[in-house]
Order: sequence, then structure tokens, then C-alpha cells
Amino acid sequence: MTRKPFYGLMLGGTVLFLLLVLIVYLPNKGKAPTEPTQPTSFDAEAAFQQSCSSCHGKDLQGSAAAPSLVGLDLTVDEVVDIITNGRKGSFGFMPPNMFTGSDAEKKQLAEWILSHK
Ligand code: HEC
Repeated sequence: MTRKPFYGLMLGGTVLFLLLVLIVYLPNKGKAPTEPTQPTSFDAEAAFQQSCSSCHGKDLQGSAAAPSLVGLDLTVDEVVDIITNGRKGSFGFMPPNMFTGSDAEKKQLAEWILSHK
């Protein structure tokens, strides 16, 4: 008879443990399918800071390495073309593929740059 409370404790402990595992595991399982949809919220400014600001400056003001990108007289397609193919001109040479996102992301990046008047 002295053993019964012990088994009860074991059983209770096991059930509690399983419950805890479920509580910790289930919410994470639910999150997994939503993750692939997150990259659709593309952050053009973050992409610029990562891929372009080293040459064009944090505020698009330009530097010794590249001209300013404020008040450009270019279309979105022209900027996408420069991002993809680079450019060699009077200022210097911009290498191609400094940003390698999707076409839609390049477009958003171009629109963000052209919004700086
Ligand atoms: C390695 C340095 C470098 C990086 C990184 C760089 N650029 Fe450039 N970029 C240049 C240079 C140099 C020029 C000028 C080329 C010329 O003389 O025509 C230029 C020109 C441009 C122009 C044309 C400006 C004008 O006055 O017509 C655009 C638009 C542009 N870059 C966008 C970008 C974007 C967007 C990124 C990031 C994806 C980027 N650049 C990253 C060096 C760079």
C-alpha cells in the first residue's frame, strides 16, 4: 500500500510532462507553415543599406566611390537595368548584380530610390 502514492506521482508526473511537451511543441509546429510567406514583405531600405550604401552612401548622398542617387532623372526600368547589369560611365564603374533579389524586389528597390527627390 505504501507504493501506491508513488505510482500515482509517477503517472501524474508523466502526464504533466507530456502536457508540457505538447504546450511547447504545438505552437512551434503551427508557426512553421507561415514562415515561407514572410519574405514577401520586402524592405527596400534594408536592401539598399546592405547592397548599395557602401558606395552610394547611407542617405543616397553619394561618396568618392559613386554618385548621389537623390533626384535621379531615370525610370524604374532604367534603375532595374543598372542594378542588374551595372554601369560604366563618366563617374566610374558600377559592378553588375550588386543586389540579387527577384525582379519584383529590384523594382521595389528602384521605386524606393526614385522616391528620393
Ligand atoms: C561598388 C560600388 C557600387 C555599389 C555597391 C553600387 N553602385 Fe550604383 N553606381 C556606382 C558607380 C561608380 C556609378 C556611376 C557609374 C557611371 O559612371 O555611370 C553608379 C551608378 C548608379 C546609378 C545611376 C546614377 C545616375 O546618376 O544615373 C544608379 C541608379 C545606381 N548606381 C544604383 C545602385 C543601386 C540600386 C545599388 C545597390 C543595389 C548600387 N547602385 C550599388 C557604384 C556602385
